[in-house]
Amino acid sequence: KVKVAVLISGTGTNLAALIAYAKEPASCAQIALVISNKSGDVEELRNAARAGIPTRDRSKNFVNHIFSHEKITRKHPFKEYCCTGWQMNFNDAIDQRLATFGMRPTRVVDHKLYGSRSEFDCTIDRVLEEFSVELICLAGFMRILSSAFIRKWNGKILNICPSLLPSVKGGNAHKQVLQAGVKVTGCTVHFVLEEANTGAIILQEPVSVNTDDTEETLLERVKEAECRAFPVALQLVASGVVRLGADGKTCWKQGTHSLTHY
Ligand code: GAR
Repeated sequence: KVKVAVLISGTGTNLAALIAYAKEPASCAQIALVISNKSGDVEELRNAARAGIPTRDRSKNFVNHIFSHEKITRKHPFKEYCCTGWQMNFNDAIDQRLATFGMRPTRVVDHKLYGSRSEFDCTIDRVLEEFSVELICLAGFMRILSSAFIRKWNGKILNICPSLLPSVKGGNAHKQVLQAGVKVTGCTVHFVLEEANTGAIILQEPVSVNTDDTEETLLERVKEAECRAFPVALQLVASGVVRLGADGKTCWKQGTHSLTHY
């Protein structure tokens, strides 16, 4: 199976859908790693840990929380953990401890601990290499990745966007949709290119806009669509049916055909 890292910042709905999909026998992907750039009480990270997926954490609070959540008491060498650099030995110790409870480590790479975007991206890259990751899913990951990072992982990064690209772009997609009065919105899974929201489209799912919709109700229905579309898109790429062509366009394996809906 193809080793996949899921990068998140949000509430983890898409992550949960990807985890559920990866558990299916027919899935060509294995969620090998979850990285969040937010530390603290993150429900989805606990879910990832319970699902046996390692994540990367530089947050003492979260490690503490995981242990207390599982009713494990342990003194952490916080001082060592929080000092500069990557404390691999400490992480290994936690891994071993969690393994005795049938869990894998749950960690965060917190962007606030890094002086620059490239430093943060280098750490992410290091963790991805450490886990021999082959594909990356941005599932509500709200950090812009550096050009160097995107070039290195060209054709290997999938992003989910809560709108139908390229018509609606930006952080306030549902508001834009309601203001424009369009009748159809949806979600898009695409390969990530250096310029945000311009990458080749893998899959889209439309969602009708109702006259009584609010940003909240739209968000909810679009997220339901995202949770169907992202796993399908990941399967298409992990299985080799779809890849990013040298011309920057989505390339379908011969004998397969484009899905307009599924
Ligand atoms: C999703 O709606 C996703 O499309 C969006 O963040 C949300 C994350 O929700 N991503 C972006 O806006 C990327 N620019 P989740 O954490 O509950 O899956």
